[in-house]
Amino acid sequence: MSKNIETLRWNVDHLEMIDQRILPADFQYITYDSAASVAEGIRSMVVRGAPAIGCATAYGVALEALTLKNTSSEEFLKGMEDAFVVLQQSRPTAINLFWAIDRMRSIMNENLDLSSNEIADILLKEAHKVKKEDIEINRAMGSFGAELLQDGARVLTHCNAGALATAGHGTALGVIRSAVETGKKISVIADETRPFLQGARLTAWEMVRENIPVTLISDNMSGHLMSRGEVDAVVVGTDRVAGNGDVANKIGTYMVAVLANRHNIPFYVACPLSTIDRSIASGSDIPIEERPTKEVTGYKDYQWAAEGVSVRNPAFDITPAELVTGLITEKGIVYQPTSKKISQLFDS
Ligand code: MRU
Repeated sequence: MSKNIETLRWNVDHLEMIDQRILPADFQYITYDSAASVAEGIRSMVVRGAPAIGCATAYGVALEALTLKNTSSEEFLKGMEDAFVVLQQSRPTAINLFWAIDRMRSIMNENLDLSSNEIADILLKEAHKVKKEDIEINRAMGSFGAELLQDGARVLTHCNAGALATAGHGTALGVIRSAVETGKKISVIADETRPFLQGARLTAWEMVRENIPVTLISDNMSGHLMSRGEVDAVVVGTDRVAGNGDVANKIGTYMVAVLANRHNIPFYVACPLSTIDRSIASGSDIPIEERPTKEVTGYKDYQWAAEGVSVRNPAFDITPAELVTGLITEKGIVYQPTSKKISQLFDS
């Protein structure tokens, strides 16, 4: 298997996505040919991670347009509106999903004078562009972020913000990969990330296959390691950053940020501009997905929790901006983010 992970790829007339639910035991692509099937792939976590969800969404829109390419413009537009709705309903927290829909919808609207066939081609080209740009953005974040890590740094990360969560390279793991590429010796501490185990299954897999030293811990061990001086920096990804710099990321991130603050360890968030939602003033307005209780009560078909117990399963939490040392973006680092600094970033 090549070193580069192609989380999603276009194959002649359909989309293929790595089935992240079965990694690392099995490596398999699943084929998608409509917006509804892509929405189901997002909902069921075949593809996950905010930027990868954005790319999948763009392809979902293009696939639907290709299906409708021989229809009248009324039928085409009606079909496309249905596609936007079905994609919008797949997962609520990652803003990249809504960002990709807005981007594809405006391209469509700019070309309404063309035939359905021509619009479909333009939308497919745009989806390829979203994917290509994602990798370039990750590379740019990587070079800014790499400078923040000292040679020999032990970097804790939560969830998977790697190549699998993007079109390639990764956001938080992209920073680590870029630092390694500059010759720094970086070792990774991967939180296992209960309950879906993205850290144990995906981050550990990505790092092991590239020979980047990685140590797996369960989520409740990070405080202990920090208190012993065994963590030099935290780098995580994000699903949505509010206008004031509050960060939504995988459940458990807030806990890590509080601990990092307690131990004076820098806490960085790798964050493409497409993940910043300036329409939302603060983190309390970010919708938090509640996932099936089965993810907490057991794994696959095995249940370890007592039958009848009530369960909560919020998939994300909010880390207040005051706990964020810096947002690593493709335009540079925003230290101690505030509304003002974020506005300036967009204006620069
Ligand atoms: O539920 P998931 O696996 O989609 O959650 C993913 C995360 O929380 C990632 O940290 C985030 O999307 C950033 S990915 C570059």
